Parts: sequence; C-alpha cells; structure tokens
Amino acid sequence: MRVSWQSLYDEIYACEKCELCRQIHNKVPGQGDIHARLMFIGEGPGADEDMQGLAFVGAAGQLLTKMIAAMGYDREQVYICNIVKCRPPHNRTPEPLEAQTCLPYLRQQVALVRPRVIVLLGATAARTLLREDFRITREHGIWVERKGVWFMPTYHPAALLRDESKKREAWHDLQKVMEKMKEIGEEASDGGHEGI
Ligand code: URA
Repeated sequence: MRVSWQSLYDEIYACEKCELCRQIHNKVPGQGDIHARLMFIGEGPGADEDMQGLAFVGAAGQLLTKMIAAMGYDREQVYICNIVKCRPPHNRTPEPLEAQTCLPYLRQQVALVRPRVIVLLGATAARTLLREDFRITREHGIWVERKGVWFMPTYHPAALLRDESKKREAWHDLQKVMEKMKEIGEEASDGGHEGI
C-alpha cells in the first residue's frame, strides 16, 4: 500500500531502527518537487544537512545545485534525497546494513514521486540500489532500467570537489540524462547550459 507523504515523513522523524539516529541534530528526509520526473539520490546527510534538516545544502549541495541548473532545471523542480536519512558520525560511509534498514523509506519516496529518471550520486547510492559491487569509476554513465525507471549512476558532487578532473565525465553523464528527459517528453524548459 502506498503511504501518504505525511505518514512517511512522520515515520522517518520517529525512526530509531538503527544507531545513526543517536547522534544527530535533525533527520534529513529529502525535499523538492514531489511530482518531479527527475530525482537525485545521494549517500547521506553531512554536517550542514544535519544542522538544517535539508538534503544537499552544504558545499556538495551547492555544486549539485549548479549541476541541476546546468541541465536546465531549478532545484525546486527535481526531488533530492539520500540513501540514509541520518548523518553518519564523522561523515563515514553508511554501513550496508544501515542503508538496507533505511531503504524502505527511499522506496516509498520513489513510489510517491514516481520519477522517470533517477540520478545516483556516488557509489553508495549505486551499490544500494543497483548492485553491491558496483564500481562508480568504471560503470558511471551507463543506463540501468528497472520497471520503467531509468537509473543513471554518476560521481557524487563531493568527489567532483575533491577531483575537478572528473567533472567532464560527470557532465557527460548528465547530458545523457538531459537526452533521456527529452526522449520521454520531459525536457527542461530552458534546455541546459554549457557545463558544470
Ligand atoms: N552528501 C550527500 O550524499 N548528501 C547530502 O545531503 C549532502 C552531502
């Protein structure tokens, strides 16, 4: 059964299913257009996100905003969330069990939003949703279709901040997303820009 947004967010805010909730300031369920055709999924909240209760508002978030703008969208026109809704201590990678424990919330978000295309930001998102041994360096930019939803794995914006040379490849992946949006009749109204 499909739950309502209200009950889903209530459940997330009350969740104590794993240890991650013990040390946080805020849950970070995700935000954006709940009818978006395009969704972005990251790894988990960082320090800024934990303080504000919003996904991708720190340095990586600012780059993500630029990436979305370069594709011709406003942040408000897409839906943005993470694999885990609580900040892992010291920004460590979420454990596979933590990711699996949190996954039902993400599945419900996807069921409610019903995006046509999902951009997976980084290895944790790709490993949790596609295949546990997914290698982002080798396999980014390759479409995976599941039940009519198109998944595009690409580099996490934090990885792009650490290594600017990856930006070109990431932009290439995002251009494929723009092409797919056009193909399915969901093209951005301003058509996109020169790059990230
Ligand atoms: N990194 C993520 O994966 N998600 C955020 O919300 C912020 C940084």
